[in-house]
Amino acid sequence: MHHKFPSDGTEYDLAGQFYASPNYHQIQSRINCLVDIYIADKKLSDRLQDLPGQFENPQPRPWKPIDWRAVQADQIVGVDPAVFVSILAGTIDTEAPIRGYTQTSRQYLEKLYPKMARFVGGVVNEQGSIVEIGLWEKEERQHAPALLKVYTQLAGEKFICHPHQARGYCPSLSPQADLYRHGLHRVATEYGATCLYTWLMAHSTGPLQAVLEELLKDEINHMTKFWGFGMWAFPNSSVIRIIGTLGRAMKRKLADPTVQGSLIHTLGRMKRVLNWPAWSLTNKTTFLFTFDQIMRRLWRWNTSLTPDYLNHLFGERRLSWK
Ligand SMILES: [Fe+2]
Ligand SMILES: [Fe+2]
Repeated sequence: MHHKFPSDGTEYDLAGQFYASPNYHQIQSRINCLVDIYIADKKLSDRLQDLPGQFENPQPRPWKPIDWRAVQADQIVGVDPAVFVSILAGTIDTEAPIRGYTQTSRQYLEKLYPKMARFVGGVVNEQGSIVEIGLWEKEERQHAPALLKVYTQLAGEKFICHPHQARGYCPSLSPQADLYRHGLHRVATEYGATCLYTWLMAHSTGPLQAVLEELLKDEINHMTKFWGFGMWAFPNSSVIRIIGTLGRAMKRKLADPTVQGSLIHTLGRMKRVLNWPAWSLTNKTTFLFTFDQIMRRLWRWNTSLTPDYLNHLFGERRLSWK
């Protein structure tokens, strides 16, 4: 439960000051509080710095013990519980078939960066069966079951999964360009998940918020590692190129609405599965606010990722953009 500090009679939780029915500004201040704590420069740097160690000795981050049965619908704040539950449903379907995602990523990385390939997708033998599970997969595969338990607690019924098919490995003639596009997509998905769990933490308290904190920590961890590794692997990637990649994807989508596999398609799908039309205006505005605040932090942190620092972490071997 949230903590009461008897000195001034107000209540606090992981997002700072707790309000039973928060208004727009109160939610905003809760989001800011979360961003200050969880997206702090130091935390991001620590998560990137432990990647080389995890190449050698992969260890999943342990979760703190969670009292699942204590998760209750009255711990939802500032959002219609039905909407909150439908957001969870969409999130479960997005998190669900993690094996497909990790194996696609592994294939894009395998030839170029075997250590990172092992981190995301583990080790596969000659027959194509997995003999070691990747650390990324080990951590991510806890998410859907955790959300299912939360869903059951909040909705009072079991959730039937409709997982969507992970996009397969689809190489072109340039493995570097493939990896760049794929990596950008991965960073974008982890970023989207980071923003979503931050926003959900701002709209919850007590044991419900404590579960979301574990999910958030994992997503920040992965986002940071993929981002930093990507900046090392593609040292000349710039804001311009990222915008260019997004722009091209958007144009493809506009030219042919049936086009699959673009980032824009993923964003459109996310909006659908999260039941966006049912959100209140305050919910929508604070959600976009979360995306904006977190991106600002990431850009600021990004300036600390100098080529020397990244080479110190990952070595000198890099690829040039083709
Ligand atoms: Fe996840
Ligand atoms: Fe993730």
